[in-house]
Amino acid sequence: MIRFNEQEKIFHIQTQNSSYVLCISDFNALEHLYYGKKIPDDGIKYISNRQIYAHLAHESRENRAYSAAVVGMEIAPFNSGDIRTPSVVYDYNGCVDHNRLRYQSHKIYKGRKRIEGLPHSRESEETETLEIVLSDDEKTVEFTLFYTVYASVDVIARHQKIKNNGTMSLSIQKFSSMCLDFYGMDFDTVTLEGMYLYERAQVSRAPLSRGVFKNNSLTGTSSHNRNPFIALCAHNADEDQGDAYGFNLLYSGNFAEEVSVSHLGDTRLIAGIDDTGFAWTLKAGESLSSPEAVMTYSDQGLGGMSRNFHDHIRQNIIEKQFAFMPRPIVINSWEASYFTVTEEKVLALAESAKDCGIDTVVLDDGWFRPHDRKGLGDWRTDREKFPSGIKGLSQKVHAMGLKFGIWLEPEMVNDQSDFYKENPDCILATSKLPLISRYQYILDLTRDDIVQKIADRISEELQGAEIDYIKWDFNRYATEAGSYKTPQGEVYHRQMLGAYKLLAILKERLGNVLFETCSGGGGRFDLGMLYYSPQIWTSDNTDPYARVFIQNGTSYAYPVSAISCHFTRGDCTTGRTSSYDFRYRVAAFGSYGYELDLSEYSAEDKAAFKGYSESYRKDEDLNLSGDLYRLISPETNLFYAYMKVSKDKNKAQLTFLELNASGFIESTTLRLKGLDPEKAYKNAETGEVLYGATLMNVGIRINDLYRKKREDGYTVTFYAV
Ligand code: DGJ
Repeated sequence: MIRFNEQEKIFHIQTQNSSYVLCISDFNALEHLYYGKKIPDDGIKYISNRQIYAHLAHESRENRAYSAAVVGMEIAPFNSGDIRTPSVVYDYNGCVDHNRLRYQSHKIYKGRKRIEGLPHSRESEETETLEIVLSDDEKTVEFTLFYTVYASVDVIARHQKIKNNGTMSLSIQKFSSMCLDFYGMDFDTVTLEGMYLYERAQVSRAPLSRGVFKNNSLTGTSSHNRNPFIALCAHNADEDQGDAYGFNLLYSGNFAEEVSVSHLGDTRLIAGIDDTGFAWTLKAGESLSSPEAVMTYSDQGLGGMSRNFHDHIRQNIIEKQFAFMPRPIVINSWEASYFTVTEEKVLALAESAKDCGIDTVVLDDGWFRPHDRKGLGDWRTDREKFPSGIKGLSQKVHAMGLKFGIWLEPEMVNDQSDFYKENPDCILATSKLPLISRYQYILDLTRDDIVQKIADRISEELQGAEIDYIKWDFNRYATEAGSYKTPQGEVYHRQMLGAYKLLAILKERLGNVLFETCSGGGGRFDLGMLYYSPQIWTSDNTDPYARVFIQNGTSYAYPVSAISCHFTRGDCTTGRTSSYDFRYRVAAFGSYGYELDLSEYSAEDKAAFKGYSESYRKDEDLNLSGDLYRLISPETNLFYAYMKVSKDKNKAQLTFLELNASGFIESTTLRLKGLDPEKAYKNAETGEVLYGATLMNVGIRINDLYRKKREDGYTVTFYAV
């Protein structure tokens, strides 16, 4: 709900449990007043900071009533009297005299506008938008700030548009999606740190201190190392209680979140495109839209914040047709045969798949090349390995009653390829011999001709093939991103716009099938990608003991159904062994599949796999639409435990895994979460019936779970009776 109090000039954006309040201040600036737990429609302008000491520059000539340096701001241009971290930096024809922005007009309406060329939260029945126009006194530079409300999931989406209304050029050096000020600095920051094979595995929490904390990526991707998610939470917030604010961006390229503490000890959060090397020129009449930022507030700690985001992503970001759809249980050829994959091997996988409860066979990398040194860009099926071609193979797989998926990496080109020889200027580069990674370069997608050429080549090669699923990979990050055609400062952002365009074109041409995106494991796990693909390959590290950290970290920002997990040999990256049941439990955390050479497994093994596929299907409803409660963090290094609970609270499942347990801790009790205290639940394993209140307050004893092999972990399902 969005309300405007004409008299007080206060905007109140209200979700089910939160309030976001801003106002038009005395000098027509757009001032931020409050974001947090829901409040009534009070005239809270009184909270505005009027503590203006003699030294501060102020607007009024008569008194010192207002200074942009101390009040909360909805947008904070550089050189405008606000001396804190700016959210936008620009100059008009070389002059920085168009920066004091004043309110001009606003609109409140049902629904929302699309952000042309960029992913954004989708419109739903409840969506409402507040649009506020600001400009400088000369009316040369115009900003439109968009606030779109998703009240039932406590999410507000923000982005902004800048327009050049003058006759000269407008140069932008920093253009964030949002700026948010809080009074005080009593926060912890929470970010997801990692690296290749360890993506988002470290939930990094630290008290905010004076200065600037920056969470960002300069890799042309959202990256393996950092993630566009960030939380600010109260020092005492935990998984279940306390103020927690979550922020994320629907963007897959260079992003930045800056959290800065001012000289007065107030906090500012800015999120958007990273400004390093960014420079964008708008000619007269042109405009630029920022990526969308999303934010949520919960008084139920980091757990509540995660659940809000999970609901928003499933309901409003992932395409409706896939969001709640049971996901394919795939067998992927990569860890089964890497580059030695052949038609014969794929058909053998398909033959065994039927005995394992698998419904989709995915042909990964290797169908158009013998190794990673060539083939990208050319996309010509290796007919020696695949004599029936992709069309023929897909028909054969379908004839066996299975679905067919294929791997692509459309944004890349090998240096040994005809495409590169024919189009030597088709890559992102700043020199003749750019750094190479995995023998490949990134195509210059800032150029529409390259986007079209590569889309045509791929669609031509796959014409007639019966494809049900695409795995879309991206195996290197950008180093020296420059273009033969595009101004340097615009390259990184235009590259993302080109990548999203290529995704949209190929999605449409390939029949709008389910996409799983991927980036050398989990290097592009972000909301931009989730707009196009309901699930993302989480990491190339499939050792379940390592994966629990990766999956747990990822769950802070993303729903489990988006987290693609496979049952594999388990030892490929670390050499560590694990039991089948343990591997299944870890992979069933998210969207489940297999990545094994099934010919190496006995009939007994396959029967076990079939059992796992069936169990996954039986409980998949909890993944697709349930709530996740984290009970024990793997970072304790002893155990990992979480629950998934259906929205109606009639079904709940506890998973408990031993990581490195030692004897003395075994008598610990574990209090369950998320149940209805008033409902009685039957433990499906033991038949015991206890109230939700009992299970959540008294808990269960961990050593009561120890009935089977401890290395397997435990899953206990509870049904309301
Ligand atoms: C990286 C991915 O994460 C793997 O699953 C696999 O698809 C390879 N790329 C193929 O090159």
